[in-house]
Amino acid sequence: MKEVQREVQSLLGIFTEVFGPGSAPVIVRAPGRVNLIGEHTDYNEGFVLPVAVDFSLFLAARRRKDRQVKAYAVDREEMAAFSLEDQFSFDHSHTWSNYLQGVLRVLQEESGEELPGIEVAFTGKIPPGAGLSSSAALEVAAALALQELNGLSFDRPALARICQRAENEFAGVNCGIMDQFISLLGKAGHALFLDCRSLEYRQLPLELGEYRLILCQSGVRHTLADSEYNRRRRECEEGVAFFSQRFPEVKSLRDLTLTQLEAHREELNPVIYRRLLHVLSENLRVEEGVAALEARDFKTFGVLMNASHDSLRYLYEVSCAEIDLLVGLAREVPGVLGTRLTGGGFGGSTISLVQEGAVEDFSRRVLNNYQQQTGITPVLYEINPAGGAELIEKGEEN
Ligand code: GLA
Repeated sequence: MKEVQREVQSLLGIFTEVFGPGSAPVIVRAPGRVNLIGEHTDYNEGFVLPVAVDFSLFLAARRRKDRQVKAYAVDREEMAAFSLEDQFSFDHSHTWSNYLQGVLRVLQEESGEELPGIEVAFTGKIPPGAGLSSSAALEVAAALALQELNGLSFDRPALARICQRAENEFAGVNCGIMDQFISLLGKAGHALFLDCRSLEYRQLPLELGEYRLILCQSGVRHTLADSEYNRRRRECEEGVAFFSQRFPEVKSLRDLTLTQLEAHREELNPVIYRRLLHVLSENLRVEEGVAALEARDFKTFGVLMNASHDSLRYLYEVSCAEIDLLVGLAREVPGVLGTRLTGGGFGGSTISLVQEGAVEDFSRRVLNNYQQQTGITPVLYEINPAGGAELIEKGEEN
């Protein structure tokens, strides 16, 4: 709690320095996320099992009298500006500002209201490129702040959809809904089992007992990540198009069964077959994973994590040498139940389920060997599921 207050005080100080005195801004906090299992299933209307993490982004915002937006990224010391009177234009020099602009524009459209401009500043402890979804946290923080400033009343699943649209239509990444949803609906001490078709969800107590969840940041994010991500989505759509001609009830990969997939394997492009096999089997792993966690059967959960990684590596082909190295090193350590790539891939982080007594050995061995072989120092954290986004201060009317 103290840390939150410190963050807020420091953000407020910077906000006033940058924008001058005036009415007190609204302040919100939005967390990053780690996905335990269920990768590249969200945009296929499947299942995911993420947790919100205790790395958060803090954002302060107040209304302006005109329709200008002035946005300050504290950690980058960058200021971006645009006007809501103008058409959207992608800001190539401050790519982070496209998320803000996207949320503003989608909120305007969905609320049917012309929103006023704002002054906004944000800072965060979510390292960009680590696969912890700092961009979703920025969208979510902006959406919550704008909702408060303008008296809007979208519920949280609706806000998640708005943020996802902002990213799809304005930031150029055709992402699913997982990251925004968990940032808005995470609960401390819980994982979130989400059905990305119906948006029904269940908070699952994460009682790890003698086990720990360790995140390892690889320190790399390959530049092809976004374009390959969008390509995977198109490959999945191609698979849906193929099967919906044969089985009209197949509207998304959620409707396809392994039996149908296998029956038509020979007619399918082998790349598409591999992508579909990953998605279908990953959905089953999430369901099995939820049952395993509920039964506190961590060994089974670890086995599923390993299978998920292998499927991402060989079938979906979204891993990379650095991540595979981290996974390989982790798997050699006794007491590690499972390790996998978490997030979209092509860099980012791995998540491992490790016996408490093995954490030290794990950290030392993974750190040393990874550093030796890549020259990069990986960053390791223990993950404790945190609460979702919240309004910290309501601000003053102006
Ligand atoms: C990124 C996207 C999510 C999801 C994951 C992969 O994090 O933003 O919507 O598709 O990749 O599971």
